Amino acid sequence: MTDPALSERPIGLLDSGVGGLSILREVRAQLPAEHLLYLADQAHVPYGPRSIEQVRAFTEGIARFLIAQGVKLIVIACNTASAAALHPLRAQFPGMPFVGMEPAVKPAASATRSGVIGVIATEATFQGELFASVVGRFAQGVRVETRACPELVQLAEAGETASARSRLAVRRCLAPLLEAGIDQLVLGCTHFPFLSEAIQAEAGPGVTLIDPSPAVARQAGRVLGDRGALSPASASGSVTCYTTGQPDAFRAVLETLLGAEFAALTGVHPAAWDGDRLGALP
Ligand code: DGL
Repeated sequence: MTDPALSERPIGLLDSGVGGLSILREVRAQLPAEHLLYLADQAHVPYGPRSIEQVRAFTEGIARFLIAQGVKLIVIACNTASAAALHPLRAQFPGMPFVGMEPAVKPAASATRSGVIGVIATEATFQGELFASVVGRFAQGVRVETRACPELVQLAEAGETASARSRLAVRRCLAPLLEAGIDQLVLGCTHFPFLSEAIQAEAGPGVTLIDPSPAVARQAGRVLGDRGALSPASASGSVTCYTTGQPDAFRAVLETLLGAEFAALTGVHPAAWDGDRLGALP
């Protein structure tokens, strides 16, 4: 059963910057009839070195903005924001469904042969209770090697995914994990799939990368399906992005990361913080 009052509303997605576009790309591929509304909080990127409380406050402000735009679902396309704010947001907005992210330790732990898995994410993600709980639940008997890689966030923000600088940064980031004998590597930050070629090249064929974006997009589809809130399959979805940074710079990086065809169908608009309130600019 479809609820016509909900089905034509957009899906909201958020991230500190361009990282969540790795999730947006997958949601668009799986649910092309949906209207997508993305907020990149580039005024505050990176979130990773910030406190959990600060990231929670930003994420709550963005959720309010997306709800004011009439979204039917919010995908927190950011591991750091999910670690900081997923549970408080669900409690605060009980009528709004949220799909959040947690590092994909479960599939990595069940696939490992060496008994050692690696997780790369931000400092804040590792500090949050969510990560400790995921490791406690799913990684019994498996060694979990973690590494915060803030440099890779900056490179993705710059659209620099295949340069000599990015290869060097990937090498520095992975060295201790490879040394420890990992055979599974969880991409625990949505910026990292944009560097997956460089990461795979450095890690070698013996290491499997785990990118959660297809599973997150499937979960978004399931949640909407259960509520009768999917767009009619015949509809043609749109992509609209807001950034609290520079729209022109955002568009240029989006084009580098997702390609010219994707960029051509995407609207990019400015948004700005006024205290803890976020609003669209004319
Ligand atoms: N893309 C984000 C994540 O998934 C945050 C990166 C950052 O802003 O530090 O964790």
